[in-house]
Amino acid sequence: MNRHNGTSKAFIHLHVNGETKEVGVRNADTLLSTLREKLGLTGAKRSCENGDCGACTVLVNGEPSHSCLSLAVEVVNLPITTIEGLLDSPVREAFVDKWAIQCGFCTPGFIVNCHALLTNHPDANEEIVEEWLQSNICRCTGYQEIKEVIHSLLGSNNHSIKKTHPGLSK
Ligand code: FES
Ligand code: FES
Repeated sequence: MNRHNGTSKAFIHLHVNGETKEVGVRNADTLLSTLREKLGLTGAKRSCENGDCGACTVLVNGEPSHSCLSLAVEVVNLPITTIEGLLDSPVREAFVDKWAIQCGFCTPGFIVNCHALLTNHPDANEEIVEEWLQSNICRCTGYQEIKEVIHSLLGSNNHSIKKTHPGLSK
């Protein structure tokens, strides 16, 4: 339930990386701006703000989502995971091992997206990998190293990649 304070803002509760945060938002505030400017979670990047680049990708209810396209008030009561909540994901380590990073601007969004791919489709074929990667753009790497990250973890029975549905904290 939103609690209005008499101004144009409402106070809502967001469930981010397993913690519940109260935050004052306007109806038009995006999830991306709320994460970055109200909660200090700057891993999701602001770029096109049009749903095209994927730099702002976070998980909402375990599914990758472009946070520039969601309003904060739309995701109340849904578990949200940002790159800051995936610090122990083996995908992150594999990006380093495979040199899948150059300037790094796209990397948080790719890691979140690849983590979701591997949890939702642990035995994905090439068609699924290609389709999944279309939601994110990298201007530096040429994608080959990013695909190598995915293939290094696919079908490996890597139990350290867990479906990310953090429980809602009270
Ligand atoms: S900033 Fe959200 S898709 Fe580009
Ligand atoms: S590493 Fe530079 S945009 Fe992807």
